[in-house]
Amino acid sequence: MLEIHAVTTLTITADNKNAYLKGLFKPNAVEYNANTESLKVIGEIPVDLNGVYVRNTHNQIHEPMSQYHPFDGDGMLHSAYFKDGKMEYRNRFVETTGLLAEKAAGKSLWPGLLEPGMAARRGWGAIGAMKDNAGTDVICHAGKLLAVMSQGSEPWRLDPITLENLGPDKNWAKLLKDGVAGEFKVDEHTGDMMFMNYPETPPYMNYGVVDKHNNLVHYVPIELPGARWPHDIGMTENYCILHDLPFFNEEKLFKKGIRKLKFHDDIASRFGIIPRFGTSADVQWFEATPCFILHLANCYEDCDEVVMDGCISLNPLMADIAGDTRDMNEKISAHLDKHNTQTRLHRWRFNLITGETHEEFLDQEVIEFPVCRGDYKGYKYRYAYASLFKKGEWLMEGFKKYDLETGVHTKYMYGPGRYGSELSVAKRTNSTSEDDAYLLTFIQDINNDTSECAIFDAKNILQGPIARVMLPERISSGTHACWVDEYRLYGEKQTLDVNQGGPEHD
Ligand SMILES: [Fe+2]
Repeated sequence: MLEIHAVTTLTITADNKNAYLKGLFKPNAVEYNANTESLKVIGEIPVDLNGVYVRNTHNQIHEPMSQYHPFDGDGMLHSAYFKDGKMEYRNRFVETTGLLAEKAAGKSLWPGLLEPGMAARRGWGAIGAMKDNAGTDVICHAGKLLAVMSQGSEPWRLDPITLENLGPDKNWAKLLKDGVAGEFKVDEHTGDMMFMNYPETPPYMNYGVVDKHNNLVHYVPIELPGARWPHDIGMTENYCILHDLPFFNEEKLFKKGIRKLKFHDDIASRFGIIPRFGTSADVQWFEATPCFILHLANCYEDCDEVVMDGCISLNPLMADIAGDTRDMNEKISAHLDKHNTQTRLHRWRFNLITGETHEEFLDQEVIEFPVCRGDYKGYKYRYAYASLFKKGEWLMEGFKKYDLETGVHTKYMYGPGRYGSELSVAKRTNSTSEDDAYLLTFIQDINNDTSECAIFDAKNILQGPIARVMLPERISSGTHACWVDEYRLYGEKQTLDVNQGGPEHD
């Protein structure tokens, strides 16, 4: 089976010079359904790999009405569904209200992140000016994929196997006027999903919980000192960790309606630890080194401490977008260059009894998009995996496996002209240990003009992919990804055992 589901007419002009609309970022126009009978398979797909790997992408359809930023593009999901040694590939646009309106108009109707002042109509996100592109994050909860943009909008639901668009969640998402930011956290042991949003008006943050039945069961304001620009949220068995980081718009300019992000290196980072069903009054705030954090690897409780592992940047504005005179492509690339921002794996320990914070680097190598196995999220874990970025580019040229118990770390590079996606960790059916699992990624190969789904044995990444499934065409470089175990495809499991040191439950 190799079917074309739909073809969209792209209107991006040939003379558009934006680097994030061409080459490895060239948007895809064709939506496919394909299976392994029609796709070339190199190696053998394991029979104990069952579930779906889904990756989101900013896949712009129309000539942008403003300077294009790679976080502006229309959401497109690419999925690899594994069952009994076979794989099905699909890709679909996330049909948001904004995307459908622009498709009907045949042109862009909303500006992007760089020039929100050009908005001629109300939009979505924390700024309220952008299209609800739903191209940043993707997770699965209560048997449905949820795709969102990072700033906060309605989460858009899709079927995790067919990628059928199901529209915004009617159960709870419509109730939230400030939307939902990306980086939801699902506790696979309880089925709870935790989230936050960060409006530009008081209280500046809200925190909520959706239960395993897809009901909003908790939603509380979190009062912050001002408008902030957080990205991730930490989760443990009993708490969530909220970020109040000193990377936010210059307040004097902001009062005049001008947004200029600044790193306030004289203001401490603050981390608010809130009981899963707590209120603002229950939050215990901890101070730490001024920093910015995009993504966390994992969090867990360890006696009196809450431990948070994530990628720290001590100088998030190394690339001075406002102050330099380079063209916009170079400025955006400099801003996204993880070697500029020097993001490295870091551990924070928050002592709930003493109120003290202890911090340490876990590694000095530049990495981002750290992940762990889904059923270890929120619980004590041993292995993290993170992407290695090409210097000067927003491209993942390899990945690193962290053994946080022994400190022995290994890495694999994809090879010249080959770039991966955010990894996902897929538990092997009847898995017996934490890294008894597979690692999945979509690789783009610019030299051969191909893409593939690559499967690695998490225990031995150095041998390279044990199987590669070639996709119908090269796909655009993407954003976040997730893995959904087969037992979660139709809803959250009612109860999973939480064992010491990590669960095994099939
Ligand atoms: Fe993110």
